[in-house]
Amino acid sequence: MRTHDFTDFNKLAELVLSYRRAKPMLVALHYDLFSEIAKGRVTAASLAAELELDAPALERLLDALCAIGWLEKRGRRYRNTRAGRRLLVETSPEYVGSNLKYQEHTWDAWSDLRYVIKEGKPRRGLLDWIRKDFFTADYIKAMGDVTRHPARELAEKLDWTGVARTLDVGSGAGTFSAAFVEKSPSAVAVLLDLPKPLAVAKSLLKRHPGADRFRFKPADYLADSLGENEYDLVLISNVSRVEDEKSNRLLVAKAHRALKKGGRLIIHDYALDPDRTSPLFPALMSLHVLLFTGKGRAYTAAEYEGWLRGAGFKALSGIPIAKESLHPSLAVVGRKA
Ligand SMILES: C[S@@+](CC[C@H](N)C(=O)[O-])C[C@H]1O[C@@H](n2cnc3c(N)ncnc32)[C@H](O)[C@@H]1O
Repeated sequence: MRTHDFTDFNKLAELVLSYRRAKPMLVALHYDLFSEIAKGRVTAASLAAELELDAPALERLLDALCAIGWLEKRGRRYRNTRAGRRLLVETSPEYVGSNLKYQEHTWDAWSDLRYVIKEGKPRRGLLDWIRKDFFTADYIKAMGDVTRHPARELAEKLDWTGVARTLDVGSGAGTFSAAFVEKSPSAVAVLLDLPKPLAVAKSLLKRHPGADRFRFKPADYLADSLGENEYDLVLISNVSRVEDEKSNRLLVAKAHRALKKGGRLIIHDYALDPDRTSPLFPALMSLHVLLFTGKGRAYTAAEYEGWLRGAGFKALSGIPIAKESLHPSLAVVGRKA
């Protein structure tokens, strides 16, 4: 008898059932199970008692986490994997749990996808979520986790000669401004965001060694002015994808006004290839922002360059960021002539 070829079916089943691996991980992060296990609460019973959970149900979750490779079990005791100790335990400097936890908030929005495809607009608004305190703190911390390395890489690849003042538009956790202050010996970094996210950034950056060089400017980047002839460098990072083309062109024009002559604008975000079907991460990101904003999407490098040229920027160049990661991005740089 010929053996059945399961290859295609396996691929399909793995894809469709991947939620059964994602959800246990998200729930484990929700209850900080990896951090609790690192503190020595290593049986289902001790964890359940500490966290007021149902011990038999928790045991099934812990076993499932072993099956997917993020916990190990000896007898009745669980321990973190090497990778888990690095990435999933709160006290580790490489902790990425805030970002991953935030994915559980977005899970509900993805459940709207079938309606959004029919109705063409989201059922939840990003700004409504930002206004909710619980979402803001998680969302901002989440951005901070994933942008730490790209921010340092971008700062590393820029020329800091003569840069005295930078503006970070939609600054989020302020990771990019932090990297700028670390790289430049004297630049003052202005962070601009809506009041609530800005307050979160302020508290996150309180103990930064360059804290005296941060300035915090609560503003709406679409409704308010970004300033006039006052910055050497303006950064618009991971903001383009939440806005439509018209708002992006408006932002780029405002950034042009805010820059001194010779100053640089940097748009940093994911970049789709021209036919918009790759890379995978921005192709899925385009769908993701559709679920939160009726207007945003992922753009191509040519679109970013078109906005910069349209506003009068010259000497355009591109800096690839995090090229080897699952989510490579692009910094498009233009100079005010
Ligand atoms: C995806 S985050 C990017 C954060 C940061 N620039 C980075 O790259 O990590 C988008 C940021 O834009 C801010 N934002 C959204 N709409 C805004 C508006 N109308 N005015 C000012 N900030 C806004 C959000 O609060 C959020 O911090």
